[in-house]
Amino acid sequence: MQLQLTIGSINISPGLALAPMAGVADHPFRVLVKEQGCPLVYSEMISAKGLVYSNRRNRSLLFFTDRERPIGFQLFGSDPEILAEGSRIIEDYEPDFIDLNFGCPTPKIIRNGDGGALMRSPALCRDIFRKVAAAVTCPVTVKIRTGWDQNSINAAEIALLAEENGIKVVTVHGRTVKQGYRGNADWKIIKEVKEKLTIPVIGNGDIDSPQKAEEMINYSRCDGIMVGRAARGNPWIFKSILVWLQERKELEAPGAEEIVEMVLRHFKLLSDFKGESIAAREMRRHAAWYVKGLKGASAARQQLVRVNTYEELEEIMKDLLRSNSS
Ligand SMILES: Cc1cc2nc3c(=O)[nH]c(=O)nc-3n(C[C@H](O)[C@H](O)[C@H](O)COP(=O)(O)O)c2cc1C
Repeated sequence: MQLQLTIGSINISPGLALAPMAGVADHPFRVLVKEQGCPLVYSEMISAKGLVYSNRRNRSLLFFTDRERPIGFQLFGSDPEILAEGSRIIEDYEPDFIDLNFGCPTPKIIRNGDGGALMRSPALCRDIFRKVAAAVTCPVTVKIRTGWDQNSINAAEIALLAEENGIKVVTVHGRTVKQGYRGNADWKIIKEVKEKLTIPVIGNGDIDSPQKAEEMINYSRCDGIMVGRAARGNPWIFKSILVWLQERKELEAPGAEEIVEMVLRHFKLLSDFKGESIAAREMRRHAAWYVKGLKGASAARQQLVRVNTYEELEEIMKDLLRSNSS
């Protein structure tokens, strides 16, 4: 199956990506999905203003290792000069490319005119594309929504502006900003953007299985596809998509033992990176996603909200293993 994605001079084959996800797609999680063969990853979104005005840069957002390459660092903001300056700062960390966030629906972000709010201002989008593309030598990409709301679908317009002003790849999440994460992603608009552009397009929204991945590829003819929520607690999804696309073979879902092993490994990676206390807090959510579908998952979830140490998590996982072995 063809899924050849080119970002500037970087070839990614097949063009399968982990979506940028604040609070999820950090360095430890990216390492885990890379181990499952995910060809492309992004950082969590990073504030351009924060980079430009703060001396204390967020080390954990900017850190990555070579095994995560190719990696895109995602920036958000709305002032073209600040985004350009932020991109120059980011470039010193040597990501493979910089991605611009034009889709975040969080009220605080929207109030500042950042993220998805930009979908309402094509002229400002153009200015941002020009200034950021001119500021750095690495490729610049953008991730957009279908529009601000159902009455203002303009993904194709913004995507064409991107193409004409130095952007190398456009990712389309098939929902409006107003939709947030509700309803279904509208793949028709992704397809329409792909048909209108000559630069590569990545399709995103509601891919939660190898079959859904194949459907998105066949329907939209995109150059790449991106998986977000379905990867939470399921780094294996990348291997299962790859094996399905390449060999048409369905991989068995991981069993309880493999899941527990991954949960504990995830904790260790997080703990090495952010310290045990933060790792424990963050693992509460991750572990709840991992154990979904296992016997005793809801009881485990109730205990997970109180986890403060590795040992506590290990105990809950041992109980879960016992419930699933009988
Ligand atoms: C918890 C969470 C955090 C997210 N953070 C970001 C982000 O930092 N930048 C971004 O462009 N999109 C972000 N997104 C949106 C995803 O990248 C993706 O576009 C969206 O979830 C739709 O894809 P999916 O249906 O595969 O989940 C986030 C989504 C979730 C659920």
